[in-house]
Amino acid sequence: MAYQGILHRYGQLLDLPAHTQPVSLLEGNTPLIPLPRLGRELGCELFVKFEGLNPTGSFKDRGMTAAISEAVGRGAQTVICASTGNTAASAAAYAARSGLRAIVLIPEGKVAMGKLAGAVAYGAEVIQVQGSFDDALSLVVEITQKTQIALVNSINPYRIEGQKSAAFEICDDLTHAPDWLCLPVGNAGNITSYWAGFKQYNQLKASGLPQILGVQAAGAAPLVLGHPVDKPETVATAIRIGRPARGEQAIEAAQESNGMIIAVSDAEILSTQRILASEGIWVEPASAAGLAGLMARTATGEFDPRGKKIVVVCTGHGLKDPAIVTESFKSPEVIPATYLALSSLILK
Ligand code: F0G
Repeated sequence: MAYQGILHRYGQLLDLPAHTQPVSLLEGNTPLIPLPRLGRELGCELFVKFEGLNPTGSFKDRGMTAAISEAVGRGAQTVICASTGNTAASAAAYAARSGLRAIVLIPEGKVAMGKLAGAVAYGAEVIQVQGSFDDALSLVVEITQKTQIALVNSINPYRIEGQKSAAFEICDDLTHAPDWLCLPVGNAGNITSYWAGFKQYNQLKASGLPQILGVQAAGAAPLVLGHPVDKPETVATAIRIGRPARGEQAIEAAQESNGMIIAVSDAEILSTQRILASEGIWVEPASAAGLAGLMARTATGEFDPRGKKIVVVCTGHGLKDPAIVTESFKSPEVIPATYLALSSLILK
């Protein structure tokens, strides 16, 4: 049968209420792409779980199908989220599909253009907040406590349920869990979901458990520093978060899995974005953080990837943030439309 989305494929394993009415854009079922060249360099079997290939270009669609399906079934009319951009675009798309009003709060001037454009294109009401993602999330929590508006940030437990599906897919593709899973950490919903998903699958199918490497940006690394960051700053705007809502669960996931949460610099994030692109995989900056962490720790000798099976999660597509690339290259060469001009340029 043709693929019908994650609620159809894994719904029985997700703890969703009976009133849930599926709203899907056929999210999930993303490829696990081998990186043989880089894997050989590191001495490991390396894969990218390319979540940028979801319908709105990020992993958020897995949680959003669940959260919006529950909200629709409950009779909600309006949904709201705070977002660094991807949640906003995803909420907007799933709300549009189900006829709900979507309101998204974003930190002023700090959201990549592909994400903002998505939220607008899908018809969300976009509001810029003079503050950080964390300030926007506080406002969203307050208004959803006082009104019937449904919250679709990853504080919503159904978001976590939906996002567990990525762990199930990885185990199904590899026939077992990898040795390590490396991923970026912002508000810490995704690391929480993966760990819950791997544990559940292991109980059901003895698929084993990975060690988890969570990676924050150095300028927004509350879980590494051990305290909130009031003014988070990083080129990886998706994870520019100083007070992760599920920070404690992220630390639990790292500890229980015998893994760790570390930070990488913006320079390491951007150089890893280029390394992934050189393998044909263009991701937004935050999405390169998992691999950046793996490579940085391997370089210092603190991490030994040799002989391991390692999955890095690339959470969002490069098209989300084209400016990070276009701002740093010079405009392409312009030539007259003649063979002579072309050949003298490229056949040197
Ligand atoms: N990667 C990307 C591309 C993201 O958009 C996010 C989070 C993360 C990683 C981190 O995931 O928050 O579950 O730890 N983006 C949220 C948003 C905050 O609003 O789109 P997390």
